[in-house]
Amino acid sequence: MPKLTGKKKVTSSDKSGQSGTYARPAKAWQARIGDAADPLAEKFVESISFDYRLAEYDIRGSLAHAEMLCKVGMISDSDLAAIRKGLASILEDIRAGRFQFDLQQEDIHMAVEAALIKRVGDPGRKLHTARSRNDQVALDIRLWCVAAMDNIDQLLMWLQEAFLALAQQDGEVVMPAYTHLQRAQPILAGHELLAYVEMFQRDRDRLADCRTRTNISPLGSGAVAGSTLAIDRLHVARQLGMTGITGNSLDSISDRDFVVEFAFVLSMIAMHLSRWAEQWILYSSTEFDFIRIADQFTTGSSMMPQKRNPDMLELIRGRTGGVYGQLIALLTMLKGQPLAYNRDMQEDKRWLFAAFDSVELSLQIAAPMVISAALKQQTIARRLDEGFLDATVLAEYLVRKGVAFRTAHQIVGSMVAHCESQGLTRLMDLPLETMQKLSPKIGADVLTVLGAANVVAAYQSAGAGGKKQLAAQLKRWKKALGRK
Ligand code: ARG
Repeated sequence: MPKLTGKKKVTSSDKSGQSGTYARPAKAWQARIGDAADPLAEKFVESISFDYRLAEYDIRGSLAHAEMLCKVGMISDSDLAAIRKGLASILEDIRAGRFQFDLQQEDIHMAVEAALIKRVGDPGRKLHTARSRNDQVALDIRLWCVAAMDNIDQLLMWLQEAFLALAQQDGEVVMPAYTHLQRAQPILAGHELLAYVEMFQRDRDRLADCRTRTNISPLGSGAVAGSTLAIDRLHVARQLGMTGITGNSLDSISDRDFVVEFAFVLSMIAMHLSRWAEQWILYSSTEFDFIRIADQFTTGSSMMPQKRNPDMLELIRGRTGGVYGQLIALLTMLKGQPLAYNRDMQEDKRWLFAAFDSVELSLQIAAPMVISAALKQQTIARRLDEGFLDATVLAEYLVRKGVAFRTAHQIVGSMVAHCESQGLTRLMDLPLETMQKLSPKIGADVLTVLGAANVVAAYQSAGAGGKKQLAAQLKRWKKALGRK
């Protein structure tokens, strides 16, 4: 949090914006509407308490804008030099935590401009030529979002690497896969771990896609209709590393689609994280006992001495609702707005920052949690024969012997029922003659297909949960993520 000041009431004699030979009103619009409002109004409209986070991007945008103004001859070389020097010193103070963010300045744009004028005088008064806070804030959020997207992408990649490392370590463990949370078919654990790598890759692809729509410059759209001054918008965009400029000034300053898209991608990431968290919460319960989460990611109970609770995972799951809420807040904030800028939009940053912070933190803790976890091969193996995981493979065995699948399904269904009525838990425990009574196509070779270990070795289809497919997936992800 930055230093915030601003309790004192602003009066008309306030000369804090003084420059050159005449007094500048404390606020840019004050000359038009008179004295600044009372402290409550000031507190109500300000955004500097949260948009201070745009400071670096605001300054970058201003530097690019000033360079352009100089290039097209609207400010002199010495003006530009003064502006550069002033903005650099402001940035330095902000980074060092020395900058006083003043609530009276309303927002980060006014705070930086006022500080600049105070430090360099008249050249600072030329910076806002052909610019409005409306296009300025639109630019700042875009720049902030691009950096934030890159940050999230990096964290997602680390998380993918963590899942890949665990898949390399414990991937060969044979475990049940579930549908309806009922035991279904056997798979290799690596297959399940790499399912998360796929999910997070889609999130990265979505981020990259939404980044392309974000990384274009609205600067020069002015307050609403552009400027009669011959500015070079493309030059500003290029200097900022943006790929182009927006096409319509009304849309440029009122478009927050990229914020909504980013919040959606963040929601999707939060949802994926939450599904994984839920999976591992279940797996770390005594009932499953499939996985051990490292001590530092569990907490004890104040009363029950034996407890080892997966609180970090629960918080990842629990914070997901907040991220969805911020997405809905953004959509709802936009839905009633006529063109173009309306002050409602100021709220976008609140929701955006909150959604980002939450997902960033969850991703930061997820990767070390994954990398330090271990699958509990023995406890998984102990109960692997329960649940008739090999029933489907037996039906497919019959298909290979020429039985129609629906018939095979019925035959195996009655074998399972037979086992249950006899108190047998495994198909392989049925005597061969009993099986053959249900289908004469069954031979002694049936024992080579039954049992979870045989099943995972026998999967044929691409993307299945078996040995061959795991090797292919590991190879593909090691290459994609640049790991050995
Ligand atoms: N603080 C404002 C925001 O975040 C900046 C733009 C204000 N523009 C205006 N004309 N009041 O949206």
